[in-house]
Amino acid sequence: MITEKMEKAFNDQINKEFFSEYLYLAMQAYFERLNLTGFTNWMTVQVQEEHAHAMGMYNYVHERGGRVELMAIDKPQTEWKSPVDVFRHVLEHEQFVTSRINALMDVAEEEKDRAALSFLDWYLKEQVEEENTVGSVLAKLELIGDDKHALLLLDKDLEARTFTAPVIG
Ligand code: FEO
Repeated sequence: MITEKMEKAFNDQINKEFFSEYLYLAMQAYFERLNLTGFTNWMTVQVQEEHAHAMGMYNYVHERGGRVELMAIDKPQTEWKSPVDVFRHVLEHEQFVTSRINALMDVAEEEKDRAALSFLDWYLKEQVEEENTVGSVLAKLELIGDDKHALLLLDKDLEARTFTAPVIG
């Protein structure tokens, strides 16, 4: 059984993961408008990953006999100045998510919920990977600057990203 406090913390994070999905969908739409198919594909995969993160917690709360409470999802930003502006936002957002996962683990510690701590370990590792992947695209974009030819080459590279459903927990 899950405690009330733990259940609420998980429900808050489920909402944050769905918000992440929504934010990246807005970024996907931005790249579609620019006809940057590789960046669009990168965001499509990101959207799928966030959906999987949300559903991983959704399934876990049920598994522990808790109740999933879905809440309203905030309106995401829908306009950015440039691709580099988008990726700065992605990195900032992922750092925020990492801080939320840490806070969720703090609640698990307070509640002495070792099962939740062990489950959340996967999310912590995932955040390290996410920040690293995003940081690497951002570093390339910063190098590229105003070079449109280099931007199109990076766009081509990002077409290769594919989604693999994660095994969570
Ligand atoms: Fe679900 Fe990108 O953190």
